[in-house]
Amino acid sequence: MTAIVVGASSGLGRALADELARRGQVLLLVASDARDLHALAADLQLRHEVEVATLALDLGREVDPGARILAALAALPPPTSLLLPVGLSRRDDDFTLSAGASGELLAINLHAPLAIIGALLPSLRETRGTIVSFGSIAAARGRGQNVAYAAAKRALESLHESLRQAHAPGALHVQLYRLGFLATNLTFGMALPWAATDPARIAPGLVRRLGKGSFARHLPRRYALVALLLRSLPWFAWRRLRR
Ligand SMILES: NC(=O)c1ccc[n+]([C@@H]2O[C@H](COP(=O)([O-])OP(=O)(O)OC[C@H]3O[C@@H](n4cnc5c(N)ncnc54)[C@H](OP(=O)(O)O)[C@@H]3O)[C@@H](O)[C@H]2O)c1
Repeated sequence: MTAIVVGASSGLGRALADELARRGQVLLLVASDARDLHALAADLQLRHEVEVATLALDLGREVDPGARILAALAALPPPTSLLLPVGLSRRDDDFTLSAGASGELLAINLHAPLAIIGALLPSLRETRGTIVSFGSIAAARGRGQNVAYAAAKRALESLHESLRQAHAPGALHVQLYRLGFLATNLTFGMALPWAATDPARIAPGLVRRLGKGSFARHLPRRYALVALLLRSLPWFAWRRLRR
């Protein structure tokens, strides 16, 4: 049985790939840079003696990433888990981006997960597998930064709900994590209000919950309270805060 990690080369994806390999899982790792992927695969194979295949795709430009992943899966055991810790954010995502740049953000953060899920759904239904998507605390309320990124993350929540609505419990496990700040490339150099979480700390729990039902939850769990507070601020107060 194969687990596919899209966005496996760094941050949370890398921590998930490591945890899955530690448990002896056959892996297909996807990210943009072939050299990064080969180095990661060699390391995992050496340390955990597992089969690791790689696929380099630029998800900002790839028209049909699902078809490319299906082709790579032909040589591997059937897929049981699809994890999508792929993402890109930009500091200048504030309505000043060109159409091309905002299109790239939407392609990576929304179109790629949607297209990959669509292509892999029949095989994942056959194995009663798990699809794991990653939202963000950045999407809790709209604001003048991370505009396209947060819009894509909010849309992922709708996609998650549609998937759950379309599948009986047990026919497919559909899981969404709304993540708080993680110490990864995505937040590197950012002034955060508090310390970011090491992705290696949350990866084991996330892997343990594969195949264990459908849900949407905040991670770390304390971000549920942060999201609740952000959403309960009256509009005039939120607007002043986020100018
Ligand atoms: N870090 C946070 O604080 C935070 C907070 C909330 C939500 N999230 C979400 O959590 C997930 C994991 O994020 P992270 O912090 O681990 O990010 P990260 O360290 O920046 O890793 C992102 C992954 O996405 C891949 N990726 C980006 N652009 C790509 C492209 N054009 N083609 C193919 N792959 C591409 C990267 O591969 P390459 O290096 O090859 O491009 C990398 O493997 C993402 O969905 C992110 O939006 C993160």
